[in-house]
Amino acid sequence: MSEKYSVRIQGKNADIAVEENQSILDAALRANEWLPHSCTQGTCGTCKLKVLCGEVDHHQSPEYTLTAEERADGLALGCIATPRSNLTVEPLGNAGDDGVPHYPLRDYEGTVVVLEDIAANTRRLVVELDTPMAFNAGQYAELLVPEHGVARQYSMANPPTETRRLEFHVKLTVGGLSTDGWIFSSMVVGERISLRGPLGQFNLVNKQDEPAILIGGGTGLAPLKSIVQQALAEDLVPELFLYHGGRRREDLYDVEYFRELERRYLHFHYRPALSEEQWDGAMGLVTDVVIGDFSSCKGMSAYLCGPPAMVEAAVKALKRRRMAPRLIFREEFAITPAA
Ligand code: FES
Repeated sequence: MSEKYSVRIQGKNADIAVEENQSILDAALRANEWLPHSCTQGTCGTCKLKVLCGEVDHHQSPEYTLTAEERADGLALGCIATPRSNLTVEPLGNAGDDGVPHYPLRDYEGTVVVLEDIAANTRRLVVELDTPMAFNAGQYAELLVPEHGVARQYSMANPPTETRRLEFHVKLTVGGLSTDGWIFSSMVVGERISLRGPLGQFNLVNKQDEPAILIGGGTGLAPLKSIVQQALAEDLVPELFLYHGGRRREDLYDVEYFRELERRYLHFHYRPALSEEQWDGAMGLVTDVVIGDFSSCKGMSAYLCGPPAMVEAAVKALKRRRMAPRLIFREEFAITPAA
């Protein structure tokens, strides 16, 4: 039986039980004690915490996320570090009340009910859960790849009101364990799968006064689709712009769905853009299209999801258009070597 340690989270006055082989973040989220986090894979550094008392195992915490100096200063990555003793830790990021509802991390079982090709090398996967999962629009779940003992992250594309039926958009990675080896090959409708969630802190949950620009590349559209549905249903923003970038027409999907939303909601604007194929819509890199549409983004907020290069380009473009950095929220595709 694995040993259990007690971990005190400074500033929350919370004590949680953590298994010796369980990350501090995993235990905290399961105990419904919110800690800042994003990638849960050791790549973003959002989950850094200070170990005030006790000893942790850093495992493979990457040097580019947690430097030798930071380790020497007693910092650790909450999503990787496991306890070697009872601990007292203090999160570096804001773990307090940020006005956003948080839901506990749980394990789920479900059945694949839809599996369809929606764009080039892109599938829509819908899973009917045995028990409902509460989550915020923009969050993700980890699907456990059968027989490999690894998990892969996919954002929910459905609105959070649909807690039993989760929609994911999956892009094929050639040779990838989860995509090439499973979702695009052996997976069938009716298959039982295991997953855990919700995870991540990318969301637009509270009513805001400023217009929002959503920019997605490829399947980066998934969390934005969830956010769009919630924002429109709950009237969260005065004006909402959705940009979806692809290279060719075959890369775009759910075009008619968003056009129909545009017809229904006058304050919603949908702008798909292609960078490599002539068509009757916007042409060019999606960030250039945004730049062309706005002479100033002052007072607006942005939500970005896609490949890191697209997200970086979008951040630069929005700052050039005078958007405040604190109002730019980003979700990069996880850096998993074999997606
Ligand atoms: Fe821990 Fe990203 S490094 S959540």
